[in-house]
Amino acid sequence: MSVFKRELQLLSLALLLCVSASAPLCDVPVQRWCESEQTAQRCGVLDQCVQVNSSRWRSDERVNVSLYYESLCPGCRQFLTQQLMPTFAMLSDIMTVELVPYGNAQEKQVGQKYQFLCQHGEDECLGNMIETCMLDKMGDAAYAVITCMEASTDVLKAAPTCAGLFSPDTSYADVMSCVNGDEGNQLMHQNAKKTGALQPPHQYVPWITINGKYTEDQQQTAQSSLFILVCSLYQGEKPAACTLGQKQMKTSYC
Ligand SMILES: *[C@@H]1O[C@H](CO)[C@@H](O)[C@H](O)[C@H]1NC(C)=O
Ligand SMILES: *[C@@H]1O[C@H](CO)[C@@H](O)[C@H](O)[C@H]1NC(C)=O
Repeated sequence: MSVFKRELQLLSLALLLCVSASAPLCDVPVQRWCESEQTAQRCGVLDQCVQVNSSRWRSDERVNVSLYYESLCPGCRQFLTQQLMPTFAMLSDIMTVELVPYGNAQEKQVGQKYQFLCQHGEDECLGNMIETCMLDKMGDAAYAVITCMEASTDVLKAAPTCAGLFSPDTSYADVMSCVNGDEGNQLMHQNAKKTGALQPPHQYVPWITINGKYTEDQQQTAQSSLFILVCSLYQGEKPAACTLGQKQMKTSYC
């Protein structure tokens, strides 16, 4: 996540600097502008802080987007890298993202273990498994690592490089021992169960649910403009990012 957080922070910073240019008495660092009403007032960002606060504290209203996908499917890669992650970078205060790598794979139980068969072959099964273990081991950093992989020409080859860039604190050996061991096998079985439990059952990938539900209309809207969809579905007070995009088209902000 770190790379997205940073972009998001830069964006908010740019917005806040714009607004605070007329407030010379603001003498605290930007991270603390919203810590009290007085400080927010002094820094000329009271309205923005109230908005940030209201979206930050109402996590029960976050729009939950789940993506059921497989690592080598071109449509999945496109949605993940061009819609889902850019939207998440801008709207991480009002949405959650869940990635379920499995898609159209099939599983067969053999003794205590499961064998998987993937639409795009063994490489895809390996990609699914690597990403599943990354999601388990890397916390939020996994999103940036997986995006980096899915945006690369060779998803599998890119894995160690992307991991080193975006999750430098995670041992890649730990990820690979998950991939090659029982742990990954069980995690992938969980993905299989979750995918198999979808109602209605998925018919293709990428398969997108929002707040746990799928409709064909919503899927189409999500694939063409997820950002607008998430902003419109969010029931709390809209964050600046939702209105900024529209305002910027009409007027220059400063
Ligand atoms: C934002 O929320 C924090 C924590 O609840 C609170 O202490 C602070 O005063 C709020 N800031 C504004 C500007 O309302
Ligand atoms: C998103 O999921 C969380 C956790 O399950 C839940 O509390 C929240 O209500 C969901 N959001 C919406 C809008 O349904």
